[in-house]
Amino acid sequence: MTQSARKYLIAGNWKMNLNAAEGAALAKDVVSLVGSQTDVAVCVCPTFTALESVSQEVNNSNVQLGAQNMHFESAGAYTGEISAEMLRHLFCNFVILGHSERREYFGETDAIVNKKTLAALAANLRPIVCIGETLEEREAGKVNEVIKTQLEGALVGVTAESADTLVIAYEPVWAIGTGKTATPEMAEEVHAEIRCLLAGLIGEDAAQKVRILYGGSMKPENADDLLAQKNIDGGLIGGAALKANSFAALVESAAKAGK
Ligand code: PGA
Repeated sequence: MTQSARKYLIAGNWKMNLNAAEGAALAKDVVSLVGSQTDVAVCVCPTFTALESVSQEVNNSNVQLGAQNMHFESAGAYTGEISAEMLRHLFCNFVILGHSERREYFGETDAIVNKKTLAALAANLRPIVCIGETLEEREAGKVNEVIKTQLEGALVGVTAESADTLVIAYEPVWAIGTGKTATPEMAEEVHAEIRCLLAGLIGEDAAQKVRILYGGSMKPENADDLLAQKNIDGGLIGGAALKANSFAALVESAAKAGK
C-alpha cells in the first residue's frame, strides 16, 4: 500500500453556525466552486437542523454530507439525541466524533467516543474521530501519551476491515479557533506517531489506508505547507469552512498537493 492510495479529504465543520436556509446557501456556493472536484474528497458538516436542506444542495455533486455528532444507540428514550441511522436517512456519509468541544463542554469520554465509532461503522457512516492535546498537556511533554490514550480508547474493537472507512483528525486543542496553527513539522510528528499507533492496533497495511486529517486554524495561507506533509491527508476546517471561497481554496490546495 502506497501513500498515494489516500486521497485527501477536506471536511468543513460548521459547528453551531448557520440555520437551514443559511446552510443551504453556503452549500450551494461550495457546490458551485468545488462540486465537480474528483481529485479531493470534500465534505461539509452542518448543524442537525441544516442537514436536510444542505443534503438537497449537495445532492448530485461530489460534495458529501457529514454530521457533527450522533448517539450510539439506534433509537429509544434518549431525549434530544440523533442516531446514525437517522443521519444515513438524510444521506450523511460522515460523522465527526469526539471533537474537543464535545469532550470539554459535553463530557464525552474516550469510552463514549468508542461506542459512537462502533455504531457509526455498523451503520456505514464514516467516523471522523478527533483527538488532540491541550496546551497544558503539550507543555508538560504529554502529547504522545494523550494521543495514545485517546486513539486506543476510541478504537477498541475497530478492525483492519474498517481502515478505508475510518478517518482520524488530529486537532491540537490550543490551535482550534485561536489562529495558532501547529507548524507543519509539529503536526507531521504527531501524525506519524498516530500512524505508528494505528499500525500497532490494526496492522501496518491497514494503518497506511487510514486518513489522518489536521485540524486547528487551517486556512488558505498555511494549508499548502501542512498538506505537503507525508502523513497529513487533509483537513478538518472550522472557521475557514464558513466562507465558500476560503473553503474552496483549501480544496484547491489539496488538489495541488496531489495525493
Ligand atoms: P478551526 O476549527 O479551523 O476554526 O480552528 C477546527 C475544528 O474545530 O474542527
